[in-house]
Amino acid sequence: MRSLIVFYSHYGNTAFVTHKAWNELRKKGESDIFEVEYVGGKKNIITRFFYRIFPFLVKIEPIPVDLSNYDILFLGVPVLGAHPSSALLKYIKSIINVDSKRIICSYVYGVELSAKHCAVHISKILEKKGNPLIMNIFIPWSNVHNESFLNKTLIEPINKLS
Ligand SMILES: Cc1cc2nc3c(=O)[nH]c(=O)nc-3n(C[C@H](O)[C@H](O)[C@H](O)COP(=O)(O)O)c2cc1C
Repeated sequence: MRSLIVFYSHYGNTAFVTHKAWNELRKKGESDIFEVEYVGGKKNIITRFFYRIFPFLVKIEPIPVDLSNYDILFLGVPVLGAHPSSALLKYIKSIINVDSKRIICSYVYGVELSAKHCAVHISKILEKKGNPLIMNIFIPWSNVHNESFLNKTLIEPINKLS
């Protein structure tokens, strides 16, 4: 089972969660991991807010977008300003060949309603591209280092994948 793991993390929480997921996914087969990066490096909060209004201006470093050779795509999504990060959104919009692919969207968030809103938004984008099998995982940032929470919410669902 080959997996592609893509995440964005400004403050480190999504990076931590994504690496936990990677440790499990790589036990199932080849696993490629990429951090989405803005061209020119990290942006400050004002620039990132600007990108929320003008998402077409976002430029990210190249990352594989074709899921043809993968069984699973894991997305590590931080919820910022009630939206998925602009950099990750840019990536998600460019993904191709999603039909029948398992896509795990893992949201790291502060406010549950925001995270659910982001999940609906991202699911709509992915479903417009075809028929992926989407699994949403929600992790409050305050539980990122809570091992039993992560085991139940993140690790167990990944282990059950076949
Ligand atoms: C500037 C800022 C804005 C945030 N806005 C939201 C938000 O609108 N909704 C939410 O659920 N969490 C929000 N959060 C909480 C983040 O989702 C949380 O800190 C998460 O861990 C960030 O991911 P990262 O550590 O991988 O960058 C915000 C955090 C920051 C610092």
